[in-house]
Amino acid sequence: MSARLVVLVSGAGSNLQALLDACTDPAYGAAVVAVGADRVGAGGVERARSAGVPAFELPLEAASSRADWDAALTERVAAHAPDLVVSAGFLKLAGETFLARFGGRFVNTHPALLPSFPGMHAPRDALAYGVKVTGATLFVVDAGVDTGPIVAQVAVPVADDDDKATLHERIKVAEREMLVEYVGRIARSGFTLDGRKVTIP
Ligand code: GRF
Repeated sequence: MSARLVVLVSGAGSNLQALLDACTDPAYGAAVVAVGADRVGAGGVERARSAGVPAFELPLEAASSRADWDAALTERVAAHAPDLVVSAGFLKLAGETFLARFGGRFVNTHPALLPSFPGMHAPRDALAYGVKVTGATLFVVDAGVDTGPIVAQVAVPVADDDDKATLHERIKVAEREMLVEYVGRIARSGFTLDGRKVTIP
């Protein structure tokens, strides 16, 4: 039976699209059962609907407090009984309620080699620092900002003439491939956690 994925997005949803495409192969072992966004009109929601996947939009501004938003997000996601929740360009931090429910089965992809350059502006920060190699990281979400145990990483070279957009685009190509490979492996085999060490059997 396929693992049930709920994917959270904020933007264009190219990572989501890569997962949707991978899930068309039954051997992949996963199905995207719902997509959630923290804003109205995210490209990812359109991609979900085009693929016939139910999608919901839950803007923070529509909730009376951050805690209420977190509780509502938890309920909306839980309604789809996910085995794994994938944050794929979801630009909000999940709160306590969400983590209590989905901690240990909630992964996020980040466009840098953590622990370098956490936060919202990783490609810009990597360029400003002058690194020659950056990349992407898939990690198990914990209560910190991009601090959770690392599942997988991929390195990407920085070009001399990169700006943050060209660098981010190059990262995203590698990031999508990593995300598809490792979400599939987790879907088929699960993973174990020993301290910070993640192992996929
Ligand atoms: C990805 O690079 C993700 O790591 C970052 O934002 C980008 C989302 O891209 N947080 P998309 O919406 O999947 O195209």
